[in-house]
Amino acid sequence: MRRLTQHVGLATGVKIANSWLLTDKQGRRFLVDTGYFTDRPALRAHLWLAGVRGKGDLTAVLLTHRHSDHAANAAWLREKFDCPVACHAEDAPFLRLERRPKKMAVGKAPLYQDWLNLFEDAYPARTQVDETYEDGRWKWGFRVVPAPGHTEGSVMLVHEPTRTLFSGDNILAGVPPLRFIEHLSLAAPGFSQDTDLCNGHVLRFLRDLPRVDTLCSGHGPIVREKTGEKLKALLETCECRWPHLAEPAGR
Ligand SMILES: [Fe+2]
Repeated sequence: MRRLTQHVGLATGVKIANSWLLTDKQGRRFLVDTGYFTDRPALRAHLWLAGVRGKGDLTAVLLTHRHSDHAANAAWLREKFDCPVACHAEDAPFLRLERRPKKMAVGKAPLYQDWLNLFEDAYPARTQVDETYEDGRWKWGFRVVPAPGHTEGSVMLVHEPTRTLFSGDNILAGVPPLRFIEHLSLAAPGFSQDTDLCNGHVLRFLRDLPRVDTLCSGHGPIVREKTGEKLKALLETCECRWPHLAEPAGR
């Protein structure tokens, strides 16, 4: 686990999406997103080195959304560390396999994205869900910002005590799997169900942006310098490019 700030570590061996370990001032440890199935050995090693080794060492697994590059190891983590898994209520039925998601590979995305979507359609993440988020101020210092549209229950999580934004795939900090080029952007259309809906929620959040010192996105590098300014710049760019999102519809 590579420690990037006083509170945030990144499992650098988890390659496709980012898996962040947040340690708060009370010593509680939260894993935000869990990587893909193939990332499990690397994730296990990173957690071991960070001292997360057995039951009780992890307070909770927090999912930004149900896609398998973020949620595939949640069930294993839940079992191994005896910790709750939390996600938004709109994503929970899919993770519990109570509902089947709409197919993602529909031939409209670039070829490599459709290939990845084929895997997502064939091997969706599954896990029991112990808790579902409440929109707004939730618990452990987290504020939940719903951004449905990437998935039904995609969210961003703001950890208010450390001013850290976990944006999931709703705000991207780079192009996966690269982590050395910082480029902020909104949700990728090829992987999103309703990009306009998601972007509308994100832009509304950015217009009323709380103080954020650190951006931990679902993909790309950590952003910890001039983070607020960069997010405001993203807002301005997107408002110019997509003026129809100026007044996003409510949930
Ligand atoms: Fe995603």
